[in-house]
Amino acid sequence: MVQLSETFLMESQALDKDHQRLVEMVNDITQMLDGGEIENCKTKVLNFVEFVKSHFAREEQLLNKVGYPNVDKHQKHHKELYPKMNHMLEFADMVAVNAQARESLKKELVFFVMDDVITTDLDFKKFISGSS
Ligand SMILES: [Fe+2]
Ligand SMILES: [Fe+2]
Repeated sequence: MVQLSETFLMESQALDKDHQRLVEMVNDITQMLDGGEIENCKTKVLNFVEFVKSHFAREEQLLNKVGYPNVDKHQKHHKELYPKMNHMLEFADMVAVNAQARESLKKELVFFVMDDVITTDLDFKKFISGSS
């Protein structure tokens, strides 16, 4: 189980709520895979990917609103994560027949949400905290 410690809070209600939801979605998929329930895996990973994309859009909008100077750079970072999401969807297609794919998918999801999505946001924490 992954948990959001205080270090990772942005002090923005909207973003923290989204990040919390992303962590919950990853925990849900991980628990499901650990329990051998794999029928809904693809749907859940698809929902996760869709939610990540909508989160990125909300976050970029908020960064523009508060006048964060490096919005373009952060937007580019978000775009660079699209191939990783496609990769996770490919793994999700293989989980029924491949135990290695299950393990890889779990690891990728945790790394993705904690390192690629949430940790990189700390760059703009001081611009955004308390904004919404
Ligand atoms: Fe974020
Ligand atoms: Fe971000």
